[in-house]
Amino acid sequence: MNDLIDMYNTTVYRGKSKILNRFSLQLPLKRNIAILGPNGAGKTTLLKVLMRELYPVRSPDSWVRILGKETWNVWELRKNLGFISQDLQNRYFGYVKGIEVVLSGFHSSVGIYSHQEYEPEAIELSRRIMADLQIESLQENLFSHMSTGEQRRFLLARSLVSEPATLVLDEPTSGLDLTATFLYLRLMRKLMRDGKQIVLVTHHIHEIPPEVDYIVLIKNGKIVNSGDKSDLFTNEQLSDLYGTKMKVISDNGYYQVIPDEWWTELQQMPSMFQTPRNQQFWYGLTLSNVVIWRCAAWWGHRIKIWRN
Ligand SMILES: Nc1ncnc2c1ncn2[C@@H]1O[C@H](COP(=O)(O)OP(=O)(O)O)[C@@H](O)[C@H]1O
Ligand SMILES: [Mg+2]
Repeated sequence: MNDLIDMYNTTVYRGKSKILNRFSLQLPLKRNIAILGPNGAGKTTLLKVLMRELYPVRSPDSWVRILGKETWNVWELRKNLGFISQDLQNRYFGYVKGIEVVLSGFHSSVGIYSHQEYEPEAIELSRRIMADLQIESLQENLFSHMSTGEQRRFLLARSLVSEPATLVLDEPTSGLDLTATFLYLRLMRKLMRDGKQIVLVTHHIHEIPPEVDYIVLIKNGKIVNSGDKSDLFTNEQLSDLYGTKMKVISDNGYYQVIPDEWWTELQQMPSMFQTPRNQQFWYGLTLSNVVIWRCAAWWGHRIKIWRN
């Protein structure tokens, strides 16, 4: 078993819409992975297939194997894969305390219930994880009263209590300010250094840590390309993926994209060749008149000099 997920010929519907159509993809186990693509490309759908929150259409010539197996007990799978998404964050509301969010990770539930008992070891593990993520002092606070950055760290703690080998993060830094984002990045990098595999969906290329080196590009429910970051983070690949000209720059293992101003300005310039034909005629006539007039003036000037 070398793949986190091996999908072949997979078709997935959401409501009446076919989102993934005969989709094939293999995500390697030993690499940290970023999945990129425009809004609506199917990234969250793909992660939900991986987390068994969405099921593909059954067909004899297609399969989805997660960690080498086609059938999974969902609770068992969640011990192998931790998942954090905006969706999950929105499901916590009302009077749930920070510590309860973390403990709910042991049962993969949203919040905790009176019948769920917690061993002292479980409580000690939660405390240790919260200390690592610098949220221990907030554990008695209400989740709904925390900042988005603090909530995101509690969800990270929740996903870590089952000690999964892989963490699946769907836009983990959306809505965070720069300080909270960079703190989250530092935590992610530490987890990767400690041996956790990360699968990250993001729009923010500058938030892809250097340790993430396998990239999957998705557009319209199809794989555009996948492979090493250095091969895929090029002006051409990313401009093509997002359908807008951009330039890739890199520094210290991080990448960033900026708009390709030269190209954009050129496209916006009122070019002679973008105007209708009758206008092209008048442009042409004016230009040739100017040229003839300038030549005549020059020759007139030369003749005057010779005469003298
Ligand atoms: N519950 C749903 N019912 C129907 N269509 C949906 C649902 N959720 C998402 N979609 C559609 O599926 C497509 C892919 O969505 P998603 O996987 O969330 O994209 P991404 O995460 O790449 O932005 C989008 O066109 C979206 O409108
Ligand atoms: Mg999404």
